[in-house]
Amino acid sequence: VGLSREQLLAGYRQVRAATEALAAPLAIEDMVVQSMPDASPTRWHLAHTTWFFETFILQRALPAYRPVDERYAYLFNSYYVGVGERHPQAQRGLLSRPTVAQVRDYRRQVDHALERFLADAPTATVAPHAFAIELGLHHEQQHQELIVTDITHAFSLNPLSPHYSLPPQVEGWQGSPGRGDGWIDHPGGLVDIGHAGDGFAFDNEGPRHRVHLDPFALARSPVTNADWQAFITAGGYTTPSLWLSDGWDQRVRHDWRAPLYWRPDLDPTAAVCHISYYEADAYARWAGARLPREEEWEALAVSSGAGLPGAGEVWEWTASSYAAYPGYRPFAGDFGEYNGKFMSNRMVLRGGSRATPPGHIRSTYRNFFMPDARWQLSGLRLARPA
Ligand SMILES: [Fe+2]
Repeated sequence: VGLSREQLLAGYRQVRAATEALAAPLAIEDMVVQSMPDASPTRWHLAHTTWFFETFILQRALPAYRPVDERYAYLFNSYYVGVGERHPQAQRGLLSRPTVAQVRDYRRQVDHALERFLADAPTATVAPHAFAIELGLHHEQQHQELIVTDITHAFSLNPLSPHYSLPPQVEGWQGSPGRGDGWIDHPGGLVDIGHAGDGFAFDNEGPRHRVHLDPFALARSPVTNADWQAFITAGGYTTPSLWLSDGWDQRVRHDWRAPLYWRPDLDPTAAVCHISYYEADAYARWAGARLPREEEWEALAVSSGAGLPGAGEVWEWTASSYAAYPGYRPFAGDFGEYNGKFMSNRMVLRGGSRATPPGHIRSTYRNFFMPDARWQLSGLRLARPA
């Protein structure tokens, strides 16, 4: 059961407009910078999300459709090996062409074609592509958060200290309801984990399966900046016994002494942000606790009804490596490359952040990054036996 064409059309307009709103505060020059291989220029995000709809919907659904520019397939394919050759990810910031204006024109042309398709094509023609369109909307929402994290990284390297703020017209992207002190207990036992029902989910959120959990407790809030300052003051960054071996190597190599973008004047009550998995793990050990398993996080989020208190401010590193659930089946066809091929060497994060679009947060959602990644809005929540 998917979305109706009216829902797809409304969703398409909303998501595409939200992307434009995120880019609106930026200057042309901001949009073409690539500050590191993992972070892409805003211009690339604007084009790549458009390429997704052009490649996987318009070109497949409409035999007469001609790409806006045949060369964009090479420039704006991210990692779909099955779809063709790709421009190297680390070189996305070397391109002055196509210009931002040309990319904006690309977006307009694809929008026009896709909206006409949804409005005018026979239902039997739209139906086989409804899932790909819905996936494209969730895909673009993922890139909306990356637009924020990637421009934040670029600005952080600029001696003029430009600041990127989420546009005020992007409603519902702030806030962290229900956080407080103390712990929330869970009795453990057999619990069902993974997506169920008719709503959208990525393939990696299923299949639903049963796991056993020992009784456990999770903190009612993520770890705060004040907590983290205590960790720094106590020598957390200079005590190798707190760290995993790979983590200590990274700490030494990059001379980590605090989270990325750390400043002494950060709000002490806000969740600590921009830490790697290794830092989260070291902090938990220092605190006499541990990181949650992803199943614990999900079980408590589901059983507390309105979601886990304090969730949605920062993505929360878990102790779980990103792997397939029992019986996992990747999306069919080219979308099989979307999630499944990244199931090694990455750790799962749960929750969502203040830059995650509303409607993109689910209790079963599995975000994943390399354990040394710090430019995402990543924090942690402690776990312990009940
Ligand atoms: Fe993508």
